[in-house]
Amino acid sequence: MLDLKDKLVVALDVNTLKEVRKLVNTLRGKVKFYKITNRLLAQYGPKVLQIVRKMGGKVFLDLKFHDIPNTVQYSCYSSTSSGSSIMLQSICSYLPAGLKENQGFKNIIQAQYPVFMITVHTDAGVEGLRSAVKGAKERAEELHIDRPLIVGVTLLTSEKPEADALGIVLERAHWVKEAGLDGVVCSALEARKVREAFGNEFIIVTPGIRPKGYSANDQKRVTTAREAIDAGANYIVVGRPILDAKDPLKAIKDLSD
Ligand code: C5P
Repeated sequence: MLDLKDKLVVALDVNTLKEVRKLVNTLRGKVKFYKITNRLLAQYGPKVLQIVRKMGGKVFLDLKFHDIPNTVQYSCYSSTSSGSSIMLQSICSYLPAGLKENQGFKNIIQAQYPVFMITVHTDAGVEGLRSAVKGAKERAEELHIDRPLIVGVTLLTSEKPEADALGIVLERAHWVKEAGLDGVVCSALEARKVREAFGNEFIIVTPGIRPKGYSANDQKRVTTAREAIDAGANYIVVGRPILDAKDPLKAIKDLSD
């Protein structure tokens, strides 16, 4: 059995806060990380991040920024503190130097700043990717917090390019490295080569994960959790196999087999 506790990210691809609460509650103690996209954010705003955080989850904010560098920069700037209270944000801006090392303060921050990872699309280009790091770093410094991990989306796992997928992913991973991001989102089918080329510090996030016998849905390049982790994935992202299951805990067990 695989221990997925520090690796599994559940994609919160649902439509209502009621469904969010129900799912996070069901998965409490089993799942640490939750991925939130515009599907929930456009409807409910940062409240959805607050709910997940209050229930003990860490948030992966997957908004795949792809825009001019200035917009990418300030989208990452805002995402760095998304879902935290405005009051705490302003208090943090006026902190005396040294207080950020105080354990009590660290605990408050831990409970308030929910974003542990964000995404930028590598189509934003090296300049766009650099501006992502700049925006997140600037905000994190202002608030005396760690900046979230920033990963670049290479190819969607629902895409099956006619040209060589591995070549595309490796080229984009180079842009990511050059721009100072923390890693990439790619399919597990490319993960091993990415790990070999970029070393152990590089973060690899792999969607397109299915337990044996489950539907691939619209995903074109799928693997099992074990294959992804063996290939070097730090995080595996799973949505429908868990969301559509009658018993989501059983689906997690099936993933771990
Ligand atoms: O339901 P399923 O497990 O296919 O969900 C995968 C999740 O990962 C979705 O939220 C999708 O947006 C996301 N994703 C992906 N492929 C990428 C990047 C993100 O499927 N390359």
